[in-house]
Amino acid sequence: MILPKHVKIVEVGPRDGLQNEPMPVPIEVKMALVEKLVDAGLSVVEVGSFVSPKWVPQMAGSAEVYTGISKREGVNYPMLVPNAKGMEGAIAASVKEIAIFAAASEAFAQKNINCSIAESLERFQVVMEQAKAHDIKVRGYVSCVLGCPYEGEVSIVKVVEVAKTLYQMGCYEISLGDTIGVGTPLKAQRMVEAVAQYVPIEKLAAHFHDTYGQGLANIFAVMQLGVSVIDSSVSGLGGCPYAKGASGNVATEDVIYMLNGMGIETGVSLDKVLEAGTFISDFLDRKPASKVARALAR
Ligand code: HMG
Ligand code: MG
Repeated sequence: MILPKHVKIVEVGPRDGLQNEPMPVPIEVKMALVEKLVDAGLSVVEVGSFVSPKWVPQMAGSAEVYTGISKREGVNYPMLVPNAKGMEGAIAASVKEIAIFAAASEAFAQKNINCSIAESLERFQVVMEQAKAHDIKVRGYVSCVLGCPYEGEVSIVKVVEVAKTLYQMGCYEISLGDTIGVGTPLKAQRMVEAVAQYVPIEKLAAHFHDTYGQGLANIFAVMQLGVSVIDSSVSGLGGCPYAKGASGNVATEDVIYMLNGMGIETGVSLDKVLEAGTFISDFLDRKPASKVARALAR
C-alpha cells in the first residue's frame, strides 16, 4: 500500500465551520481562533468568505477578520469568493489567496450561488483574470462530488468536467467536496481515480463532511491513491447552509490522530488543535465534538 509521507491539512473551521453556526461569533473570537490554529502549526487556514451577508450572515465581517489577524510567513489564509463583487472585497483587503467554489450538481449550484454551473464558471473566469492581475493564488472547490442534497446521485462525469475546468482555468489545487458526507470509501476512490485522469493527484484535496461518519474511512481510501491534501475543521465544526442536515467536516483532531498513528507527518500539534477546539467550543457553549477530544475528556 502506498501512502504519502507528509499530508498538508487545510483547516476550514473558521469558514466552513462557523458559516453554519446559529449563534453570531464576534470578529475577535474568529481572529483568536485563526491565530490559535496557526499556532498549532497549520499552514493553511481558511479565514472567511466574501459572500452576500444576506445569504450567509455568519461570514459578515470576514474582511475585518482577515485584516485583523497577524500574517505568518509560510502560512496561507484563503478567503472564499463567489463572483466579481466578492473579488473586489478580496482585492481591497489585500488577500493573497482565494477559493472559488463550483458544484457538480445543477440544483446545488442554484441553491448555493443562485446560478447554473455554466454561469458560475463564467463568473469564475472573470475572478481568475482579476486574480492573475493581482498575483492572487486561487484554490478551486467542487461541491457534491459524492452526492447532492437535492439531486441525490451525482454523475462522476460531471465531477470530472467541473474539476478539470477549474484546473484548466488556473486553480493550483482542486478540493473535492463531499458536501453532505454521504460517500463511502470505494465510491470516493472511484471518483478520485476518474478526476486524477485530468488533474494530477498531487493537486487534489479531499474535503469530506462527516455526516454519516465516513470521513476518516474516505480519507484513508483516497490517500491510498496518493491524495496528500486533506481539508478538515477544528472540532468538526460546521456544515453548509445550503445542504440541510449536513454536519461539519471531518474533525482536524481526528485526522491528526489517525495520521500520527500511521507515522504520516503533518507538522501540526494535536494538543494545540485540541486547545483551539476547546476555545471555540467553550464560546459556542458546547463540548468539543471531535472523537479525540471526547476520548481524552473521559
Ligand atoms: P445574488 O442574490 O444572485 O447576487 O447572490 P446578485 O449579483 O443578484 O446581487 C444581489 C445583491 O447581493 C446586490 O446587493 C449585490 O451587491 C450583493 P443589493 O443591490 O441588493 O444591495 N452581492 C454581494 N454582496 C456581498 N458579497 C458578494 C456579493 N455579490 C452580490 N460577493 C451570491 C449571489 C453568490 C452573492 C449569493 O448567492 C451568495 O452569497 N451565496 C452564498 C454562498 C455561500 O457562501 N455558501 C456557502 C459556502 S460553499 C460551501 O460551504 C461548500 C464548500 O465547503 C465545499 C463543500 O463542502 O462542498 C466550499
Ligand atoms: Mg464544505
